[in-house]
Amino acid sequence: MWADLAPIGRDPRSGGYQRFAWTHEDAELREWFCGEAVARGLTTVLDRAGNLWAWHGNPDETPGVVMGSHLDSVPDGGAFDGPLGVVSAFAALDALLAKGFRPSRPLGVACFADEEGARFGVACAGSRLLTGLLAPERAHTLTDADGIHLATAMTHSGVGPTRLGRDEEALRRIGHFVELHVEQGRGLDDLGASVGVASAIRPHGRWRIDLPGEANHAGTTLLTDRRDAMIAAAEVVLAARAAAERHDAVATCGKLQVVPNGVNAIPSHATVWLDARAASAEQVHAVITDVAAAAERLGGTLLEQSWSDATGFPDAGRLADVLDGVPVLDTGAGHDAGILAQAGVPSAMLFVRNPTGVSHSPAEHAERDDCLAGVAALATVIEELAR
Ligand code: GLV
Ligand code: MN
Ligand code: MN
Repeated sequence: MWADLAPIGRDPRSGGYQRFAWTHEDAELREWFCGEAVARGLTTVLDRAGNLWAWHGNPDETPGVVMGSHLDSVPDGGAFDGPLGVVSAFAALDALLAKGFRPSRPLGVACFADEEGARFGVACAGSRLLTGLLAPERAHTLTDADGIHLATAMTHSGVGPTRLGRDEEALRRIGHFVELHVEQGRGLDDLGASVGVASAIRPHGRWRIDLPGEANHAGTTLLTDRRDAMIAAAEVVLAARAAAERHDAVATCGKLQVVPNGVNAIPSHATVWLDARAASAEQVHAVITDVAAAAERLGGTLLEQSWSDATGFPDAGRLADVLDGVPVLDTGAGHDAGILAQAGVPSAMLFVRNPTGVSHSPAEHAERDDCLAGVAALATVIEELAR
């Protein structure tokens, strides 16, 4: 499975992945998912948000135990963030069925659409749509950098977006969701453990900041006469960093768009995207209040793109015990499991050691033995939940 996925969306220069929602690469990944499902005799279901489900057994009779994650990536992402959870889900299912396990409930493998929100800006768009945390009216306003609407992109991928909205039928089928994920920090490596259980996801969100300027000539306009949107963007980036330090948070301005984006033209507009996270929602909001004030002083505006409250996984302790006392740790990374948990679906997460802690980068890595330990742990957890 890993070898089949490896070339899809891979940038040969960086070794990273460009796998954005509702693109050609995404279609290839989704086709791969359906092929794996068919090869195992699983029933493939597409929900109203475009998430894919592969079922062993009939979840319309009894809600099932679902494993899975996502296949899309951030720009120049690593190979493991998302795909490790989907591949491990199929592998754990294979292992359970091969040893003759007879689940008391249906077992499912899920592939969530657009988890990274790299193209349309909203993180975990597929699970948010499924649960109603992203309203269809808002989804229909989302566009990518080329102005293509989410609905248009979905239609081009052959997925009708006409019934976007909370999908009760799909939700009823999920008795329990377990997402295995590569760890995106060094917590497990520091503890010398190959696998861990997630206790919580720290609150986090995304904001868009628009800053006005005035286009003019780079050579003839006096510094005192300029209204340079890039200078405003630089001030906002530094304000976000200072606010994060003040409020014991993290803040990242990882994306910037400048108009007209010419070497010898003073920028007439800049858009900066801010990602902010902390231990508490109050800390994150303190950062945003400070950055919004900075943007306002510069004549700009700040708009929320997506928000994820602090999310706990109440089964963490029990599952860690089932796994012979593996570490329990929280994370600053967002996941579909967090969205489902917020919507009241019993959810849990397993992490696999990342020896460097690097993620959202081509350097993201997990050792084969740790991945196999992850599959074994996932199978054990599923056996516990579906015995
Ligand atoms: C998802 O990977 C996120 O936390 O941004
Ligand atoms: Mn990610
Ligand atoms: Mn992920």
